[in-house]
Amino acid sequence: MKKLTTAAGAPVADNQNTKTAGPRGPALLEDVWLIEKLAHFDREVIPERRMHAKGAGAFGTFTVTRDITQYTKARIFSEVGKQTPMLIRFSTVAGERGAADAERDIRGVAMKFYTEQGNWDLVGNNTPVFFFRDPLKFPDLNHAVKRDPRTGMRSAQNNWEFWTGLPEALHQVTIVMSDRGIPVGFRNMHLFGSHTFSFINADNERFWVKFTFKTKQGIKNYTDAEAGAVIAGDRESSQRDLFEAIENGDFPRWTAYVQIMPESEANTYRINPFDLTKVWPHGDYPLIEFGEIELNRNPENFFAEIEQAAFTPANVVPGIGFSPDKMLQARLFSYGDAQRYRLGVNHHQIPVNAPKCPFHSYHRDGAMRVDGNHGRITGNEPNAQGEWQEQPDFREPPLAIDGAADRWDHRVDEDYFSQPGNLFRLMNDEQKQQLFDNTARAISGVTPEIQQRHIDHCTQADPAYGAGVAAAIKALG
Ligand code: HEM
Repeated sequence: MKKLTTAAGAPVADNQNTKTAGPRGPALLEDVWLIEKLAHFDREVIPERRMHAKGAGAFGTFTVTRDITQYTKARIFSEVGKQTPMLIRFSTVAGERGAADAERDIRGVAMKFYTEQGNWDLVGNNTPVFFFRDPLKFPDLNHAVKRDPRTGMRSAQNNWEFWTGLPEALHQVTIVMSDRGIPVGFRNMHLFGSHTFSFINADNERFWVKFTFKTKQGIKNYTDAEAGAVIAGDRESSQRDLFEAIENGDFPRWTAYVQIMPESEANTYRINPFDLTKVWPHGDYPLIEFGEIELNRNPENFFAEIEQAAFTPANVVPGIGFSPDKMLQARLFSYGDAQRYRLGVNHHQIPVNAPKCPFHSYHRDGAMRVDGNHGRITGNEPNAQGEWQEQPDFREPPLAIDGAADRWDHRVDEDYFSQPGNLFRLMNDEQKQQLFDNTARAISGVTPEIQQRHIDHCTQADPAYGAGVAAAIKALG
């Protein structure tokens, strides 16, 4: 066992009794150990993530199970059987860091693959779509689902006023209000990259891709009543479920699939493939299996390895790229920016965030630089020593883009109702009734105009959807 010292390494002789003037006090300012202890304690809380603040995570392995090298040159996929270490952080969205897990909400799924070419982060959700497709609305969404400025309480009125103001939200709202809206645990849900990304192969051909990870533990969900009972007894139900399963050697697994669209088909496909409120039906673009994820190691220290973990969609590796999806484009900025605020400009050096492969980035200085700061190596490029050379072999092929710059209104002539309608028609009667009842409970107390706006959207998706929600709201009184 190691003996206690101060942060400066001096022995701590007494960690039980404050130094006082006489046995009854007062305390002496020269008790520098007391002062060091309190000062550190006062700074132990760092800002929580603005959303997805409540989460849990674990480490594991990604294994390639099928050859997809015809689509991507990313070395993580270079051969069947290849394994890459990874981290996943799961989360809810609206709740703060102390929120209960078993809430009706989207679940976030942030993956970090420590590949031999750098870190690849896939920062998705347990749903394949999102509430909207324009990043300008993202702060509004979070203001609507988080706390009301006056009351400091969550507000169904704000929530539904926002959602029903956007017809494109119905697809995501339908999923959240469905029987899949409260997963029993993080192990019991599918995971999605949600956006369209790109693959680039060794011949520099580009493909548009979407990622899906299907749970091997089976889909399991709570009803509203079950979730209420769970929360009464355990606010950490999903976190505990994940932690205990891994401690017991019952490692959760997901099968990884990708949908692949050749680059040129984006122009002719009947659905805008860069619209985050829509899926690509599997009949059009089938799921191609390519790997398996297994989570098999709990963090040793939650704060160091999960709270300080920084995921960003901007982290891609050669062979995996972005797409014109403007939501994704905004996220490429927002995550690193949030992390520079939340963790500091040198957060890449925190061990959980650092690549596991050799890396040689030439940023300098900044708060909390702890790696030697590249010593005497020159900080400018190009330079006579040939330091910091760029790597042109990894250039992406050019992407043809055209069009006039404008604030294009994507709600004109756009069909936002067919896909939620199709989802509704896939549900059995019991699932439909759950959707109606969950919606009615969630929207109860909201002004009648907003309730009607939602019913109208549901009706456009399917008349039976609208009628069912209207009847359930009426029945609730
Ligand atoms: C967390 C921004 C849309 C999934 C965050 C964070 C920000 C952010 C700033 C906190 C990051 C941190 O402090 O480390 C945005 C913006 C969006 C957007 C601006 C749209 C314009 C989405 C979408 C998804 C998503 C569409 C899923 C498909 C997540 C997840 C986290 C997160 C999973 C938690 C990451 C973690 O576990 O550390 N988002 N987000 N976000 N976001 Fe988004």
